[in-house]
Amino acid sequence: MTEIRKVGVIGAGLMGSGIAAQVANAGVAVVLLDLVPGFAAKAVAGLLKAEPAAFMHSRNARLVTTGDLATELALVADCDWIIEAIIERPDAKRALYAQLDAIRKPGSVVSSNTSTIPLDHLTQGLPASFAADFMVTHFFNPPRYMRLLETVTGTATRPDAVEAVSNFCDVKLGKSVIACKDTPGFIANRIGTLWLTAGVRHAIDLGLTVEEADAVSGRPMGVPKTGIFGLIDLVGLDLMPLVSGSLLRTLPKTDAYHAVYREEPLTTRMIAEGRTGRKAKGGFYTIKREGAARHKLSIDLATGDYRAEQKARLASVEDAGRNLRKLVEHPDRGGRYARALLLDTLSYAASLVPEIADSVDAIDAAMRLGYNWKDGPFALIDRVGAAWLAAALRAEGRPVPPLLDAVGNGNFYRTEAGGLQVFGTDGLYHDVIRAPGVLLLADIKRASKPLAKNGSASLWDIGDGVVCLEFTSKMNALDPDIMAMIGKAVGMGHKGLFKAMVIHNEGTHFSVGANLGLALFAANIAAWGEIEASVEGGQKTYRALRAAPFPTVGAPSGMALGGGCEVLLHCSAVQAHAETYMGLVEVGVGLIPGWGGTTTLLRRWATNPKFPKGPMPAVAKAFEMISTATVSKSAAEAQDMLFLQPTDAITMNRDRLLADAKARALALVEGYKPPEPVTLKLPGAAGRAALAMAVDGFAATGKATPQDVVVCTALAEILTGGPADPTEDTPEDKIYALERTVFMKLVRHPATLARIEHMLETGKPLRN
Ligand code: NAI
Repeated sequence: MTEIRKVGVIGAGLMGSGIAAQVANAGVAVVLLDLVPGFAAKAVAGLLKAEPAAFMHSRNARLVTTGDLATELALVADCDWIIEAIIERPDAKRALYAQLDAIRKPGSVVSSNTSTIPLDHLTQGLPASFAADFMVTHFFNPPRYMRLLETVTGTATRPDAVEAVSNFCDVKLGKSVIACKDTPGFIANRIGTLWLTAGVRHAIDLGLTVEEADAVSGRPMGVPKTGIFGLIDLVGLDLMPLVSGSLLRTLPKTDAYHAVYREEPLTTRMIAEGRTGRKAKGGFYTIKREGAARHKLSIDLATGDYRAEQKARLASVEDAGRNLRKLVEHPDRGGRYARALLLDTLSYAASLVPEIADSVDAIDAAMRLGYNWKDGPFALIDRVGAAWLAAALRAEGRPVPPLLDAVGNGNFYRTEAGGLQVFGTDGLYHDVIRAPGVLLLADIKRASKPLAKNGSASLWDIGDGVVCLEFTSKMNALDPDIMAMIGKAVGMGHKGLFKAMVIHNEGTHFSVGANLGLALFAANIAAWGEIEASVEGGQKTYRALRAAPFPTVGAPSGMALGGGCEVLLHCSAVQAHAETYMGLVEVGVGLIPGWGGTTTLLRRWATNPKFPKGPMPAVAKAFEMISTATVSKSAAEAQDMLFLQPTDAITMNRDRLLADAKARALALVEGYKPPEPVTLKLPGAAGRAALAMAVDGFAATGKATPQDVVVCTALAEILTGGPADPTEDTPEDKIYALERTVFMKLVRHPATLARIEHMLETGKPLRN
């Protein structure tokens, strides 16, 4: 099998440059070329400033070699895989392939990022040897963050080339690779475009406001709350005619898309006026600024003019909650809209198997990963009922897709003997098989009962003597139940019931930190004793975790903030998903990290052999990170910040995280000894004076608010060891104790409570 060690990307536009950055994020050398002289180099400079960041670490840019196509094509001659991401024109693409074929190394793979051109058009007139090495790899924008990768292979494509590219994209680039048939729009855009087109059309016809349409098409359907119109604003309304135009041109007249499509005078006018969405001067939604005031406006779908935002109030949405059947049967216009939208979208999806993919779970995965739907169309059919959908279609005299009839009263998904099964085109259920190296907690949960469970956490046996601790609270916020479960898991280690532990969950975010609502409630009734007990209890639990007799491995993805960061700081090791955002953000709510985060971060910097010696540099570094609530924008950055240790490892594909963490935990078992507590040399009063001067400076220049000064001064007290004598070493115990004292002082402060309240109400920090 071709091993991919070096990658070439031709076309340094939006997609090509983003793909090159993701290859570099995988630690693989990449060449990026463009037709326009100097453009590729400019593109990389742009990537370094991109928001959200394209590179997981700025040093990754060094792995990208840039050049001009006309003079430096030879740079890709030794690449194992060359990705074409140039203008969407078959003639231009084919001309490029002929050039590439003359210089590429034997056995190298060439792929196109085309979104609309059939594979056999692309290889026309090229030698058979080229067609054997050619496939389509369709990335989604932005390539770093969108997990879906659709692949299409031709009849001539070498299977081992497909395997090499698919494996590289899965393991190294972290993508979920979905094999598609060579049909227009592949899977996600074929269904997604019909869904958006139907969503606009029915909203206009049924007289909904954009807010109402998005309130129905978003959350209740497990779709991001942007819904239909918010999503079009996000991707750009001007893209819509390009995508729909291409589908209209290439799909047979019998395809349902032709019936759903209608040219909308409103959107044509909006595009002509440049109202194409967030990147332009607004779209369906916009913000009008008048001096300091900001007014949220929305388009009136009937007149095409802006009017003040109107919050959606629909009985259907309020009554139905997550009950989709109730929503589609509701008589108000929200219910009628939901019904029209789902009838179109779900029957379309059901009619496209096996035309666009062999299995319904491939289609669901593509919609989940490419459009961020929680459930794919077939999981949605299960929610609304396949028999209901078939009957509703019949009642309107519309055709019922054979697959829908075949599933009858059943579901597309079912659990059989603890395993997930999916309904196939042969009318039988088939086991869903995960790739080797993929272990999902969801599968374990389906197949077994928890070892223990409370309101906020569960313990699972994940095999080979490893126990997995899962948070299950809202946003995985930490509370006494979670602390109790950590204690229980550590207890299992002491009893020798398990060899190792993994802390992992499949939520969007590993944990957003301590449950602030509980803290505020306790503060409001002046239950200071309880708050103190929870600080002390949390420290005890986390320190017991660190001192556990067996290896404990944290496996986070998404945000790991505050207490969620601190739990990871107390694990023996962390196996982090590449998209992990870690930080001690307590100052935002007027507090300091009080569950050992302050102590651990200080210890890590103080004992880091690569960092300057002496008491002050480590103190200053920890002070800077905690006082500014620094959050890493990737796992790679977290490693720089010592939230992750140099020995911790990173997994690019989220589906592989648990298996990697388990393997890491088992690798640590032999001869495992928990770390010993340490003593640190801290600078005492002199250090505190130096930090106070810095804080005064920030206050004088308006960078620090009055409460920032209070919190930073308190933080400095911990980090410098309290009134310690700098010639004596400070035991770790004492720093933990200082954390508790300082935390209790701050939590009683009215300005801190105001910050907590504001955060709970708005989700944003209060700058008081
Ligand atoms: P773009 O317009 O941002 O970039 C295209 C780049 O290719 C430009 O820098 C241009 O100078 C260069 N170029 C044009 N002709 C060339 C040639 N003959 N040789 C070398 N370079 C040439 O386009 P974008 O959006 O990056 O699209 C690239 C490809 O990716 C297209 O095939 C498109 O259909 C596909 N695609 C686009 C997505 C999107 O969201 N924009 C999503 C998925 C696929």
